[in-house]
Amino acid sequence: MLEIAHVTVRFGGVVALNDVSASFTEPVAGIIGPNGAGKTTLMNVLSGFVHPASGHVTRDGQNLLALAPHRRAHWGLRRSFQKEEIADDLTVFENVLVQIDHGRSASGAKRDEVARMLALVGMADRADKPGAALNSFERRLTDVAKCLVGQPRVVMFDEPAGGLSVDETRQLGALIRRIHDETGAQTLVIDHDVDLIRAICTETLVLDFGRRIAFGPTSTVLDDPKVKAAYLGTEEVAQ
Ligand SMILES: Nc1ncnc2c1ncn2[C@@H]1O[C@H](COP(=O)(O)OP(=O)(O)OP(=O)(O)O)[C@@H](O)[C@H]1O
Ligand SMILES: [Mg+2]
Repeated sequence: MLEIAHVTVRFGGVVALNDVSASFTEPVAGIIGPNGAGKTTLMNVLSGFVHPASGHVTRDGQNLLALAPHRRAHWGLRRSFQKEEIADDLTVFENVLVQIDHGRSASGAKRDEVARMLALVGMADRADKPGAALNSFERRLTDVAKCLVGQPRVVMFDEPAGGLSVDETRQLGALIRRIHDETGAQTLVIDHDVDLIRAICTETLVLDFGRRIAFGPTSTVLDDPKVKAAYLGTEEVAQ
């Protein structure tokens, strides 16, 4: 269980998160809300980029906030950004390998693990392609593989479907749903595509102006009048 308890974040006069609590227990959980609601800030708290003014974050009882950001990565926290970080001059295989091995001669076990994750994301046949030659979907898939090596425990995606076609989004969703079974990691997904959230997240947290306005089973949450009201007048209303 990933437990967020009474987390508050302030940036000067802006209260980006206001006493937010949620206990994530499902393999794939969603975080949704209008622009500026505090979704990315919550991921930044989890990854250690942002220090909350108050509150706790624990995973199975372990205090994550006590770990420095690089220790959290070592512990198994993974993060993908809206813009993938793929090195143009490395191959797909090397881009993933550097996540777990900085040496010149990576062990066979590490190479096997990279190969396994590239197969999982569907990039095994393009392992030798240079980063510079990848299209946007291939970049996204490579980025997912980077998150999956090195025994992740919590994997976070911030708008992973941005810029993808409907079909690519469906493929990515299917892949995200497999992460828990394949690696044991719990996954958090921020996205404005409510159809994607509905399809892959069994529980969902809804933020609005830094506050939690709903949390629970995704279908229940999306039917909540407060959630519908928060989306009124925004581009998500059609979804
Ligand atoms: N580093 C920062 N300094 C100052 N204000 C910030 C900072 N990061 C976020 N904010 C503010 O905190 C609030 C929450 O921002 P956040 O990026 O978490 O929203 P979001 O839900 O991810 O929005 P979006 O859907 O647009 O990505 C916003 O008002 C934003 O302007
Ligand atoms: Mg954001």
